[in-house]
Amino acid sequence: MKPENTKRIDIIAGARPNFMKIAPIIRAMEERKGSGGTLNYRLVHTGQHYDTRMSQDFFNQLGIPEPDVNLDVGSGTQAEQTAAIMVRYERLLLENPSHLCLVVGDVNSTMACAIVAQKLGVKVAHVEGGLRSGDWTMPEEINRIVTDSITDYFFTTSEHANKNLYNSGIPSDRIFFVGNTMIDTLLANMSRFRPPGFWNRLKLAPKKYLVLTMHRPANVDQTKKLSEVLKAIGHACRQLPVIFPVHPRTEKMLERIRTIPENIKTVEPQPYLEFNYLVKHSKAVITDSGGITEETTVMGIPCMTLRDNTERPETITEGTNELIGTDPRNIKPALDKLFEGRWKKGKIPPKWDGKAGQRIVAILENLSIN
Ligand code: UD1
Repeated sequence: MKPENTKRIDIIAGARPNFMKIAPIIRAMEERKGSGGTLNYRLVHTGQHYDTRMSQDFFNQLGIPEPDVNLDVGSGTQAEQTAAIMVRYERLLLENPSHLCLVVGDVNSTMACAIVAQKLGVKVAHVEGGLRSGDWTMPEEINRIVTDSITDYFFTTSEHANKNLYNSGIPSDRIFFVGNTMIDTLLANMSRFRPPGFWNRLKLAPKKYLVLTMHRPANVDQTKKLSEVLKAIGHACRQLPVIFPVHPRTEKMLERIRTIPENIKTVEPQPYLEFNYLVKHSKAVITDSGGITEETTVMGIPCMTLRDNTERPETITEGTNELIGTDPRNIKPALDKLFEGRWKKGKIPPKWDGKAGQRIVAILENLSIN
């Protein structure tokens, strides 16, 4: 029997970038269990990402327990995937209610579960609330706006996020500036980073290669564009190897491109410890991800973002990141700057100190939600 005053919290995770964000929250809840903690969680995996390399590897490496429930939704169009998550999560909540639904990040699972919970009168907490890129062509921006418009408690990573929320009329007693759970995971695991199996085969050496990731529809969904960007990167990297772990979405498009530059080495999506080993020892990272720009900022690795905007401006104003856009002509000047030793150094944003998960759990314990 659970004690009367126990609060039941659903922790929602669906896609790869969610897993490093939930790990420290779960760890902090587990740590509190033996010493008067009042929180009880149910881990709900929506199944948005289902490949071992996109999901299970992260659970294993980060010590995340098996999900209590897997909604097994799989892939689909934006609406199909969102709708499937909503239908299945609603069924779960109706059969077995909880007091709070905690969502992280900006993926379809985040928005879908927030809508379902709020409509059933279950409070919603959003970890990484308040981020805005202003770019409505990205599904993630729609997910952020919708989720935040129905969130009760915001756990934020930056002053920019706080400001966005204040500006949209959210009272300050619902905004908690806690830091960055993704960075909690990075700092907690840095000593465990390890080289991937291909490290020796590709003769990689520290600072003698770059890392590339690309999966945004704007960059990968047109083969001509993808091919041009890869050509520009391969050329501008001055024969250094560029390690390119390929996301499933990108893989489908790459199959249609006949040749890519020889120094671009495609590999499978990497598990957490191997991927961050690669980043930590690289000369620079080229990416269209948001989360990776936070990790490179903390590791002090130069980062070039293949986007025209970002929801994480502190990675630019304080960190090592720069927006270089998606025009292949911008790639060479950016890489020349790197090779000429002119890349900025950067510093770590406030509260990105490895304690966000603990702060979140302490706040959740004090909320009156049951
Ligand atoms: C999703 C998130 C994005 C995040 C990214 C990280 C949304 C809107 N997007 O994008 O914010 O940066 O995850 O990876 O939620 N697929 C597989 N195996 C898998 C998962 C996907 O093969 O385990 C394939 C499917 O064919 C699918 C495609 O990849 O159609 C895209 O997956 P999806 O979850 O729709 O979006 P992502 O591009 O991964």
